[in-house]
Amino acid sequence: MASLLLYNIGSLATPRSENASRLSGLAMGNIHTEQNAAIFIENGVITRIGASSELEKEANVAERFDAKGMAALPGFVDSHTHTVFGGNRANEFAMRSSGKTYQEIAAAGGGILSTMNATRKASHEELFHIGKKRLDAMLRHGTTTVEIKSGYGLDTASELKILEVIQELARTHPMTIIPTFLGAHAFPPEYKNDREAYIELVCKEMLPAVKERNLATFCDIFCEENYFSPEQSERVLNTARELGFKLKLHADQLSDSGASALGVRLGAVSVDHLECTTASGAQVIAASETIATALPGASLFLNHPYPPVRALIDAGATVALATDFNPGSSVTFSMPMMMTLAATQMRMTPEEALTASTLNGASALSLAHERGSIEVGKRADVLLADVSHFYEISYHFAMNHIAHVIKDGKVVV
Ligand code: NIG
Ligand code: FE
Repeated sequence: MASLLLYNIGSLATPRSENASRLSGLAMGNIHTEQNAAIFIENGVITRIGASSELEKEANVAERFDAKGMAALPGFVDSHTHTVFGGNRANEFAMRSSGKTYQEIAAAGGGILSTMNATRKASHEELFHIGKKRLDAMLRHGTTTVEIKSGYGLDTASELKILEVIQELARTHPMTIIPTFLGAHAFPPEYKNDREAYIELVCKEMLPAVKERNLATFCDIFCEENYFSPEQSERVLNTARELGFKLKLHADQLSDSGASALGVRLGAVSVDHLECTTASGAQVIAASETIATALPGASLFLNHPYPPVRALIDAGATVALATDFNPGSSVTFSMPMMMTLAATQMRMTPEEALTASTLNGASALSLAHERGSIEVGKRADVLLADVSHFYEISYHFAMNHIAHVIKDGKVVV
């Protein structure tokens, strides 16, 4: 049997799900810690956690790994990214620094459609190569599970191309990858003057084609002024749900369009962004099963307000944190950086931020039964950080403190 003993862990920190799929409200702050610990892993699954001095006596171990007093924490679950796209938008970054807004740049032909052009031109092989490099970098920053959306193809063939690249990455990369169809990310130029026809295409052609090839678990939509209206979003999401997709929404990012309430009403697994969600909107989310996913990298990068995370948690919501890695609004792989922003800009405690970046991210991908915490019975996705306490990974910010990554019981970094 393949077994690995991670011993000599200085301090271990993890949320504990106790078989629940998530931690909500103030319970998000319940982080279990253990000093001088060891983790015993068999066939990729955690089978024992205990005092290092005790577990080190275990004779029947194939491989031993000395953590040298480092801190152990669960691998990060980045539950919202747009990792597969061509080109970059560094030029827009420069334009924004001279005062142009995200919406002005999009209206001038930049934004999502400029990445669409670069992505349509790129071959499967090119996108695979770019995607693999990005995943390698994410893994080095401690992300062991990632959701990846399509949404830069915006025609059937290009959307399928992106999802097929994601599928090949999932097959070949150590990272756990969950695919999401985001064909309704923007209206492509061909349908500029007939938006209803694009909705038809998404519902009648793209969604069935994605389903038939089993290329996505979730369906997401950008519900926003100048993008998809609440009515159009409801049509697309209802069609997706009938086909068996789970639902997510880009909700309330640039305006309070009612998108998060729509997501709650449709039983979405998560509503993401929430920069413009009001206090009453936060109550609606908190009273539901829908997870609130905060993407503070987008607020930082676009100089937008931060989502009302404190109000959400105080009202009992389940909050997750993710990077939103994409070329326009959040160009980062770093979950610890999200935890820094959580603590400094959104008044989350570091404990809540750790739960939001691990267990609750796993819950936002319906994976919390097997990932997102260091507990007996879960898959062994464990980080060793060169710090004495987990606070330091986000306190000492814009630094990568992750020294080793154990993915499914194998040391991969
Ligand atoms: O999550 N808001 C919509 N989608 C992305 C941005 C996409 C882009 O600018 O390329 C986001 O912020
Ligand atoms: Fe996004």
